[in-house]
Amino acid sequence: MRTKPIQHVLLVAMMLWTTAGWAQDSAYIAQKAEFCERCHGEKGFTDNPNMPKLAGQNKGYLIKQLNNFRRGLRKSTPMHQVTLTLSDEDIENLASYFNSISISLNEPEVAE
Ligand code: HEC
Repeated sequence: MRTKPIQHVLLVAMMLWTTAGWAQDSAYIAQKAEFCERCHGEKGFTDNPNMPKLAGQNKGYLIKQLNNFRRGLRKSTPMHQVTLTLSDEDIENLASYFNSISISLNEPEVAE
């Protein structure tokens, strides 16, 4: 199909707009996640025994816990304070971000 020059311009403009929008969103979420990583470890994979790992966790579970902390249904002073700064969209995007980090599973050694 042949397109007219004006259609080319519109297409390129739309592509640039979409890419710029995505880049800004992912940079914004990465910045938010950096704050979480101070306590939950780099990429949400901490070795601190008092801190839960977030890497690879189920998205639905993360959303539920973050909402519970925000509403005070699950008690944790630091997490209540943290979640008060998050919008519903932030919670959704942070849950996607930590869920998207893949971790590998090593079977435990079982004596025969
Ligand atoms: C000041 C330290 C601190 C920061 C910053 C922090 N957290 Fe937490 N987070 C905790 C602690 C401590 C717990 C354990 C709470 C408990 O005892 O139930 C927790 C628990 C959680 C849980 C529940 C995990 C589970 O397995 O049930 C989620 C989800 C979570 N945090 C997400 C986040 C996200 C997302 C951010 C960034 C927006 C963040 N946290 C920032 C300290 C922190």
